[in-house]
Amino acid sequence: MQATSNLPRHVAIIMDGNGRWAKERGLPRIHGHQKGMETIRAIVRTARELGIQYLTLYAFSKENWARPKAEVNFLMNLLSQYLDSELNELNENQIRFNVIGRLEDLPPAIQGTIKRNIKLTQNNKGLVLTLALSYSSRIEIVNAAKRLCEKVTSGNLKIEEINEAIFSKELSTAGMPDPDLLIRTSGELRISNFLLWQISYTEIYVSDKYWPDFAKQDFLNAIKDFQKRERRYGRAETNEAGHD
Ligand code: IPE
Ligand code: IPE
Ligand code: MG
Repeated sequence: MQATSNLPRHVAIIMDGNGRWAKERGLPRIHGHQKGMETIRAIVRTARELGIQYLTLYAFSKENWARPKAEVNFLMNLLSQYLDSELNELNENQIRFNVIGRLEDLPPAIQGTIKRNIKLTQNNKGLVLTLALSYSSRIEIVNAAKRLCEKVTSGNLKIEEINEAIFSKELSTAGMPDPDLLIRTSGELRISNFLLWQISYTEIYVSDKYWPDFAKQDFLNAIKDFQKRERRYGRAETNEAGHD
């Protein structure tokens, strides 16, 4: 593919459909999660090879804690396994590891491994790989509002100074560009509390494939589709005569 022109800088993915993938095969849901981890590896590799700068993966939502305990435990073990097994791979490929979400909700051992991986990859200059864990966009926004209130109350910020840029700096994605492309797998047409602020002008691509079946070619198709889009940001079409 002629990949490098108009490549999205930041791709975010709602990795959905693990359970249905397993169900279709008459397997317990956890098999879908296990297979989904292989997809993560393949897509991270492809994103890096393409030269994408930021890849943000929705791995576990705040709402996902309401799933059966056995499934949650399995997902936490899988996460722990992933964090341990990928560290070398991340460093060999200049990938900087990052997380967003309520890390304090995660088991302490995993919090430790996350901190270790962030620290040991912090000087890498390639792809920034962000996992959204125990993530809720609404909580993120409420927390940002609280922090701004604190700054105003303590006299470090004036209300009139608050604008979109100042607000963005209080989000966990501070310093990252907004996603250019949001992919959701498994055909669901919803956002499920993911990056609500950040996707204001993001291009959305929905694949019918379940996440465990989402292959390199599917990712490339999403990128190709993105490259054909005209992003208007509320303006009129570029090649039409204007009325000025
Ligand atoms: C996505 O797959 C993985 C997580 C949310 C952790 P699901 O587990 O939501 O699979 P479906 O949507 O039930 O098929
Ligand atoms: C969104 O998928 C969360 C993740 C992919 C981690 P869900 O399966 O939890 O979303 P809903 O329940 O279909 O909205
Ligand atoms: Mg789902």
